[in-house]
Amino acid sequence: MNAPGTSTTTGVSSDEAGDESATTWSSGVPAAASAVLPVSGEDLLVGEGTPAVRHLLSIADLGRDGILEIMRLSDAFAEVAERPIPKVPALRGRTVATVFMEPSTRTRLSFETAAKRLSADVMTFTASTSAAVKGESLRDTVETIDAMGIDAMVIRHHASGAPLRVTDWVGASVINAGDGTHEHPTQALLDCYTIREALTARRDGEVPADLKGLRIAIVGDIKHSRVARSNVLAFTALGAEVVLVAPPTLMPASLEGWPVTATGDLDSTLGEIDVIYLLRIQSERLGEVLLPSLDEYHWRYGLTRARADALKRDALVMHPGPMIRGVEISPEVADMPASLVTRQVRNGVVVRMAVLFHLLGSGVI
Ligand code: CP
Repeated sequence: MNAPGTSTTTGVSSDEAGDESATTWSSGVPAAASAVLPVSGEDLLVGEGTPAVRHLLSIADLGRDGILEIMRLSDAFAEVAERPIPKVPALRGRTVATVFMEPSTRTRLSFETAAKRLSADVMTFTASTSAAVKGESLRDTVETIDAMGIDAMVIRHHASGAPLRVTDWVGASVINAGDGTHEHPTQALLDCYTIREALTARRDGEVPADLKGLRIAIVGDIKHSRVARSNVLAFTALGAEVVLVAPPTLMPASLEGWPVTATGDLDSTLGEIDVIYLLRIQSERLGEVLLPSLDEYHWRYGLTRARADALKRDALVMHPGPMIRGVEISPEVADMPASLVTRQVRNGVVVRMAVLFHLLGSGVI
């Protein structure tokens, strides 16, 4: 398991990526948006920013500049999403395969929607109805799909590092849609975009340069959370302070190399944070008894109404989903205006359009 700050692929770490001279969000209308908005068609140049990476396995593959480029592209695609026909021909003739070896609602549907809105063809693989149930290996499965002629493979797998192995076996770009307890980079990107959007609304449309000055608490099952790992990389690359909050049994054995602070005391952090990011208890990965009971977890670490009342007045509440109401969050808190959960899902489509375009696009929307 890699600590945040290290990369499994191209070697750009979040620490290396903290360059203050990097392009920022706040230079007026984002370049991509200004290029795409006034007209439609195929003659629009966008994204003359950072060079695209071939695969997206970790947030560290993007670094700060790459994250900011995805934010700018997402602005452009958010405008596309407002059109009567929310579709552009950017990836016409390309094929995107979604290969999910673990269940998903949000990630798979939003990637497939994103690909279709970019006019790509979509190939959907579902493990339970595939030859995988007959014993076909991961290697043979992905080589078979690649042989049909695809440009990108979006893969979710229960084994940490599986997408990295797949890059050795296929010619397509590989996008990690969640691998074991390692990373879920597109979740972190849509989370950054959602926080940035909330800050922009609060500032009457002025887009913040980054997340500097924010204190973000990630609460819950850190030990098993690929979302936590990607978000620690992304939030800190953008200048936020991160505090991890969990009982000792749900904290990683070592936090060496993680640019975070950690505590077991949620109540003492509530008045000091700008964002509370709740994680699902991953019962399917626990494998051992790490909690006395889910009720006890809710009592100590759940965002109850009383705890929500102890937050700063304008604190944001986030959760990657699926949310287990009554465990990590009370039902009434989940539905409060401060809760950005639905907004996170909505933004998942435009951010994944940006990721697909960044990896496969030719510079033309
Ligand atoms: N957040 C997330 O990855 O949700 P799904 O498991 O529904 O894709």
